[in-house]
Amino acid sequence: MHLHKYEKIWLIFGIASLVLFLTIIAITAFGFHHHPATGMDLIDPNKVKETAPFDHPGVNKLNDDTYEVVLIGKTFGYEPTKLQVPVGKKIVFKLTSTDVIHSFSIVHTNVNMMVVPGRINTKEYTFKKTGNYLVLCNEYCGAGHQFMQTTIEVVK
Ligand code: CUA
Repeated sequence: MHLHKYEKIWLIFGIASLVLFLTIIAITAFGFHHHPATGMDLIDPNKVKETAPFDHPGVNKLNDDTYEVVLIGKTFGYEPTKLQVPVGKKIVFKLTSTDVIHSFSIVHTNVNMMVVPGRINTKEYTFKKTGNYLVLCNEYCGAGHQFMQTTIEVVK
């Protein structure tokens, strides 16, 4: 009788674990694509310059509170090379690479994006202070990796 009871408990535990496991997989698989903050889209890395919005990299005002920054990462820099964005507005960074994997990491912020050929990675950030923000590439991408950096000027 006792053994029976334990077997039952283990069976329930096993089913519960399986359900939990499948739920996690389902959330990971489906939830990921529906999340705009971590959204990933595909792009032909050989046609970046012809593909909107990367045919016109730079800062675009979407509305009074939101700006889009379209950037291309490549060995060994970012295009465009100069960026100026307003303070206190939502900035939507959109990045892709034309060659290898880079990163777009704004020092002293939580923006640390992967810049991947074939993918468009998106991240939102609002600068709370004006000033010059240093951007570094944190992914080793070749001989000029340590020189791959830029500055974002955040203005009133
Ligand atoms: Cu680009 Cu390191």
